This record gives sequence, structure tokens and C-alpha cells, in this order.
Amino acid sequence: MSNVYILRLFVIYWHSICDLDNYKIKDMPKILIVDDDKGIRQTLRDILEFEKYKVEEAVDGLDCMVKIKQASYDVVILDIKMPKMDGMDVMDKVRALRPDLPVVMISGHGNIDTAVESVKKGAFDFIQKPPDLNRLLITIRNAMDKSSLITDKKVLIKKINRKEVVEIVGDSSVMKEIKSTIEVIAPTEARVMIHGENGTGKELVARKIHQESGRNEQPLIEVNCAAIPSELIESELFGHEKGSFTSAHKSRAGKFELAHEGTLFLDEIGDMSLSAQAKVLRALQENRITRVGGDKEILVNVRIIAATNKDLRKEIAKGNFREDLYHRLAVIIVHVPSLRDRKEDIPQLVQHFADKICKEYNVPVKAFEPRAIKELQKPNWSGNIRELRNVIERLIILSKDSITTKDVKNFVSGVQPPSTGIDKVLDKFDTLEQLQEYIAEVYKTREHSYAR
Ligand SMILES: Nc1ncnc2c1ncn2[C@@H]1O[C@H](COP(=O)(O)OP(=O)(O)OP(=O)(O)O)[C@@H](O)[C@H]1O
Ligand SMILES: [Mg+2]
Repeated sequence: MSNVYILRLFVIYWHSICDLDNYKIKDMPKILIVDDDKGIRQTLRDILEFEKYKVEEAVDGLDCMVKIKQASYDVVILDIKMPKMDGMDVMDKVRALRPDLPVVMISGHGNIDTAVESVKKGAFDFIQKPPDLNRLLITIRNAMDKSSLITDKKVLIKKINRKEVVEIVGDSSVMKEIKSTIEVIAPTEARVMIHGENGTGKELVARKIHQESGRNEQPLIEVNCAAIPSELIESELFGHEKGSFTSAHKSRAGKFELAHEGTLFLDEIGDMSLSAQAKVLRALQENRITRVGGDKEILVNVRIIAATNKDLRKEIAKGNFREDLYHRLAVIIVHVPSLRDRKEDIPQLVQHFADKICKEYNVPVKAFEPRAIKELQKPNWSGNIRELRNVIERLIILSKDSITTKDVKNFVSGVQPPSTGIDKVLDKFDTLEQLQEYIAEVYKTREHSYAR
């Protein structure tokens, strides 16, 4: 074998080792140690490198901030007592810049209280000096798990969001206006209150706002405040610690935490209990929540979109809804009109739902005769778009080929007839409660006039 050949083999071998090394280094979790004490930095580095972590050091808070801006880390180990910038201040700054990055505080004997405080403010955990080897490694591993869980969650959310395209159908002038409002407000951080009757598309509007916002890589978490019993709503929103009530067998994050950096959609907010309203108000004011039965404050960064079919002004007057919360939430108000006020959208909606439903049922698209579509513009549609969708589904399932006026008349029995005099009166009321109040009022007036 010639010398040149041996040399080439050696070079190939050397490159493969280097590549392997690079590969390992690239994939090794990266830890930033921030401590002004060189001895502590060196000890931690030795331990962590032995455990196959990639380690970098920062000598103080400023150095830490520079490094965090330039590179990405999986965990930061941060000393509490440092010159120039105190560890607690550094933690606040790190969390503001990289909210998902777990920070483990290192504390001396003299600052255990501060360490506990730091955990309340959002540090992942703390370890005492001199570090106990086992405790250090377990804490780092747990912090790594959290970090990778967050990464997995982000990848998952990206996948889900990529699939979903929220489409708001309708070109009536009012819908055009709503679409252009969404375009303007979505990229902002403004809180939005969506108002409209049942089935008008409030949730769809909320999803569209989230999708068009800068938070669309993060989750949109929905809470139906009407569907959750009032004694459970607080735990649903803010989470709970194990044992905080009889059925709390495990600690659980609430919707606020799950929506961190994303959007929280508080649906049917008009049905939220007053005590939950007070807590939501506090969470919005302070951007912090505390789990039920817990004492740790958790920083949350959520954009709130709320929806209701109630007239919240009237609910405020009745003492059912907090005015201060209303003003916090209703920065932008979007009113979604009823379908009977935009019947010109019906042909487009029919086509949209027909295409969608046929695809779902895997059947060829069924055509609607123009007169059948005109027939569908006659009812009052008190259940709005949801009701229209159900009717289209029924027509597609039950009719043979293309859909005729006769089919519509035959199968659309559940749909209300065109508006009559009494309908016009009923239209004035959004809820049964309002109608009952009106009837009571009429009776009172009558009784009064009979008495005279
Ligand atoms: N403009 C629209 N274009 C396409 N589909 C729509 C439109 N508006 C509503 N929908 C569809 O109609 C159904 C009802 O809409 P949505 O759930 O958003 O209404 P909602 O106002 O939240 O109803 P509820 O008050 O009952 O909660 C959904 O399937 C939604 O996708
Ligand atoms: Mg809804």
C-alpha cells in the first residue's frame, strides 16, 4: 500500500470522526452557566460536560443577555447574587426575551428566600451551592424535558395550523366590512369582543383573527364558559394543584397557561360567574395567574378574544357582568349580523357548504337549481348559518341528483317560514329571558290599566 493511499485513508477516517463529533455537538443540549464565580462555573462545566452537555459560560447578567440574544440554549443556570445585574433582574429579562427557556437559579445559603421567590416568578427551579450532583442533574434533566416538550408542542401546533384554513364566506357589504376589520385588527394585540346571535359565525371570526395574527404559530385555546359549571371554571381557566379539591388527583395547567403566547378564546363570556370574572380581570391586569390551591404566580402572555350572544351592557346594568372587565375585553367590538340580515350571502354559502359536505361524504358534488337557492333565501333562519349548513347537509343526503325547489320545500320542514308580524316582534329579543321580561312588562302595564 502506498504512503499516499494510507494518508488518504487516514484523512477519510479523520473527517468521519470530526463529522461524528460535529454531529454530536450539534445535537447535544446546550446549557448556559451564568455566575461571576469562576470556580463555580468550572465545577458546573466539568460535571455537565462529563454528562455530555454542551456548556457555555457568561460572567455576569450583561454577558448572559448578549449570549442569549446571539444563540439558542436549552437551559440557563443563573446565579442569584452577581455584580452589575442581580440574578432576579436577569431572570426577568431572560423570560421576557425567551419565555420558553427554563432558568435554574443557583443560590447560596443566604438567599434561599430569594430563590423561592424566583420560582414563584417563573424560574424553573433552584439548586443550592455547593451543588449536589444528583439534584443538579435531575433538575437539569427535568428542565430539558420541559424545553423539549415545548419544542414538540410548537412543531405539533405548526402542523395543525398549516392544515387549517379558516374561510369566511360571504360578500355582502357587512361581511366585507367584517373581513376588512379582521385584516386590520388581527396583527395587533388588541382584545376583541365578538357579538352575535347563535350560529352566526362568532367562533369562525375568532379563529380567523388568530390565524391572521402573529400568534398563529402558537395555540388558539377555546373555553366555553357556558358549558363549564361555575365551581369548575376557575380550575379550568387557571389550572389547579394536586389535592386542591376532592377530585384534583393531579396538578393540571389551566387554559391561560396552555394559551401562553397564543390566543385564548373565551366563548359565551356572558355566562361566566362573577367570581371567575374577578379572577380573569386580575389575570388581564397583571399578566399573571395562580393555579387553584397553589401559591406560585405564573407569567402568562395571552391575547384574549371573547364572544357572546348576550347584550353585555344590559348584563352590566343587571349586575351580572363586571363593567371594568367589559372595558378591558371590548377594545374592539365585532358584531356578526344574523343571516336574515344578509340573505344575499346565501347562494355563496350554499355552494360552499355543498362542496364541503359532498367532499366529506365522498359523493359527487350535487348542484342546486337556481330556483332552489331562491327558495332557501325565504326562511327566517333563526339558527343562522349553523341551521343553513344542517339543511344543506340534509338536502344532500336525502335528494337524488340535483336539488330542486321541491326538495327544498319537502326537506326544509325544520326551517321557519318567512317573517310574519309576530316574528318581527320576536326578532327584537336575543334571548328567551329578554322575551320573558318583555311579556312580564306587558302584563304589568295591562293589569295596571285594567285596575284603573
Ligand atoms: N361566513 C361563514 N362562512 C363559512 N362558514 C361559516 C360562516 N359563518 C359560520 N360558518 C359555519 O357555521 C357554523 C357555525 O358557526 P360558529 O360556530 O362560528 O357560530 P357561533 O356564532 O360561534 O355559534 P354559537 O353562538 O352557537 O356558538 C360553523 O360550522 C362555521 O364554520
Ligand atoms: Mg360559538
